[in-house]
Amino acid sequence: MKKIAVLTSGGDSPGMNAAVRAVVRKALFHDVEVYGVYQGYLGLLTNNIKPMERGTVGDKIQRGGTFLQSARCPEFKDKEVRQKGIDNLNALGIEGLVVVGGDGSYRGAQRLSEEGINTIGIPGTIDNDINGTDFTIGFDTALNTIIDAIDKIRDTASSHERTFIIEVMGRDAGDLALWSALAGGAETVLVPEHKKDIKEVADKIQQGIERGKKHSIIVVAEGVMSGDECAEQLKKYINVDTRVSVLGHMQRGGSPSGVDRVLASRLGAYAVELLMEGESGLAVGIQNNKLTKTKFEDIFSSQHVLDERMFRLTNELSI
Ligand code: F6P
Repeated sequence: MKKIAVLTSGGDSPGMNAAVRAVVRKALFHDVEVYGVYQGYLGLLTNNIKPMERGTVGDKIQRGGTFLQSARCPEFKDKEVRQKGIDNLNALGIEGLVVVGGDGSYRGAQRLSEEGINTIGIPGTIDNDINGTDFTIGFDTALNTIIDAIDKIRDTASSHERTFIIEVMGRDAGDLALWSALAGGAETVLVPEHKKDIKEVADKIQQGIERGKKHSIIVVAEGVMSGDECAEQLKKYINVDTRVSVLGHMQRGGSPSGVDRVLASRLGAYAVELLMEGESGLAVGIQNNKLTKTKFEDIFSSQHVLDERMFRLTNELSI
């Protein structure tokens, strides 16, 4: 394989730049030419594809977002539209493609692989909702951003004896909510994988108040309901001074953590190795600290699973 390309797709995540850097540098190290596709799949269609040098990825490892930019491109589901992207790659003699993104991005990657472009996926999303890997690039950074916010909110919650509902991202997955609730010492966590009775939540807060607690923190995953809706429902059962904080897109920004930079570097380099070996239709990941590869079809065949033990532990420690 003499020429490959890399793109970032879907919602950006901290560490995507580190992954792109690893792809570019690893390829150049092995004398493989690398191109960057700007604006994700849209850039494939518009031929926004440029050669990458060592220096193109200099001073990028510490930056949040993605310098290659990302775009939602629903029209890429259309075979004829995709063919235009394939033609653009073929015209440049590009034989392999690395796609850094989430679940939706992997579906486009799978199609490209079936249609003749050797394609490898790298899990880049803050949601940590991709099968075949214990962690996705960006999850650790977003988690730390949320923990920082919870710590700050706890200060003011305590001063005013308030109950705070903190809405976090994660789409249909509860990982960000669960991990941040455990690490942030929240009283309650609401995740899409476990339906919880709001009355139970209210009872727990009431018991805490009776025991002399000065504040309560509830972390709610966006996949369950909005923070405002949670506050409305809570009001039916308990009369407490409540505030809602929606952390929003700040969770997606910021300089990647050390863990995310290392993960991105390892996965980026591994993706290039697989392309050089002629592999395609796979996503790389990390399981038990070992690099792994999983067929796209196996990634899509089952739902992402929440760590049940951690869920129970979070409840046990929040008494
Ligand atoms: O998948 C990453 C994510 O940040 C989700 O957690 C969230 O639901 C979604 O993207 C938000 O998408 P957008 O940036 O398009 O509003």
